[in-house]
Amino acid sequence: MNDDVISLPLLEVDSLTVDYRTRDGDIRAVNNLSFALEKGETLGLVGESGSGKSTLGLSIIQLVPVPGVIVNGHVRIDGVDVVRLSDEEMRAIRGKNVGFVFQDPMTSLNPVKKVGAHFIELIRTHEPNVTEAEALERAQKTLNDVGILPERINDYPHQFSGGMRQRIMIALAIALNPGVVIADEPTTALDVIVQAKILDLLKNLRDTYGMALILITHDLSIVLERCDKIIVMYAGNLVEYATGTELHSHPRHPYTQGLLQSIPNIELAEQKLEAIPGSPPNLLNPPKGCRFWLRCSEAGENCETEEPPIVEVSPGHFVRCFKEADKSERNRKR
Ligand SMILES: Nc1ncnc2c1ncn2[C@@H]1O[C@H](COP(=O)(O)OP(=O)(O)OP(=O)(O)O)[C@@H](O)[C@H]1O
Ligand SMILES: [Mg+2]
Repeated sequence: MNDDVISLPLLEVDSLTVDYRTRDGDIRAVNNLSFALEKGETLGLVGESGSGKSTLGLSIIQLVPVPGVIVNGHVRIDGVDVVRLSDEEMRAIRGKNVGFVFQDPMTSLNPVKKVGAHFIELIRTHEPNVTEAEALERAQKTLNDVGILPERINDYPHQFSGGMRQRIMIALAIALNPGVVIADEPTTALDVIVQAKILDLLKNLRDTYGMALILITHDLSIVLERCDKIIVMYAGNLVEYATGTELHSHPRHPYTQGLLQSIPNIELAEQKLEAIPGSPPNLLNPPKGCRFWLRCSEAGENCETEEPPIVEVSPGHFVRCFKEADKSERNRKR
C-alpha cells in the first residue's frame, strides 16, 4: 500500500477555541482556529502582544494555564486527539511527540540541578529502561548538536549565558526526537546576533532531525525570512494564512498590510514607515463584528456588525475579511 494515502498531518488544530474564565468575564484568547502542519515544515505564528499566540501554542501541549479552558475543537498529534487525554496520557506525549521552547529558559530549567540531570529526568520519564549513563551519553550528543561542549553536562544553568541557556532548552526540546517543536518567542530576550544564531540553529535542527517547527513571534520580518507558512493572528482570530512568499508579495488583510508597512526595508531609501493606528481590543469586551474594524481604514458597514468569514483567495491562501469575501462573491456571480 502507498503510505502517502494514509499519512495524517503531524499536527492538526481543528476549530480550536480557548477561553480564560476570569472573575471579570470570559476572554476568548483563541477563536475557532484551524491549521495543519506537515513533516519538516516551519510555521510562523505572528501577531501583536495579546493576540493569543502563546495560548494557542500551550493548548497544543495541553498546558494552558488556569483559568484557561479549551471550550471547543480538537488538537490531533499524530492522529491522536490530545484534548481528550488524561494528564498522565498527555505527559507521555509532551516531550516525546512535541517539544516546547519557552521565551525564558529559567522558567523551565531548575537552578539547583546540573544540566545532565535535566536530561536524565526527561529521558527516563519517557523511557524508564534507559540507564543514567545512557541518558547522559544521549544528552552529550544532543548538546553537541546545539553547539554546547558535551562536558558541560556537569554545569548548572546559571553558569551559562542567556543564549547558551536557550540552546540547552532547545536540546531538551529535541532530545526525544519529537515530530514537532514549538518555540515561543525563543529569542526575544537575546541580542540580535545571538538571536540570528539561535534561529539558524533551529532551522538546521529542523533539517537534520526532520521535525516540524512552530515559531511564535511578534516580529513579522523573522517569520517572513524563516517560515514556509505563516498564520497572522489578531485578537484571538486567524486573520491571514499563507506561505511566506505569498504573504510577502500579496498580503490581503488590512492588518497584515499594516504590519508589512511597519517593517523597515533597507533596500528602499525613502520608505515611509507607518505604524497601524490604535491598539488591539480588550478581549473582555471585543468589538462586535470584525475584531479589527476600529483600526481598519477600509472597514465597511457589515464589518461593524458581523464577523467576517474566512475566504480562500488563492490556493492555500486564506483571509478573514469582508473585502475579500465580497470580491469572491462577485467573481462567483460573474
Ligand atoms: N492566565 C491568564 N489569565 C487570564 N487571561 C489571560 C491569561 N493568559 C493570557 N490571557 C489573555 O489571553 C489573551 C491572549 O494572551 P496570549 O498570552 O496568548 O497572547 P500572546 O499573543 O502570546 O501575547 P505576547 O506577544 O504578549 O506573548 C490576552 O488577552 C491575555 O490577556
Ligand atoms: Mg506570548
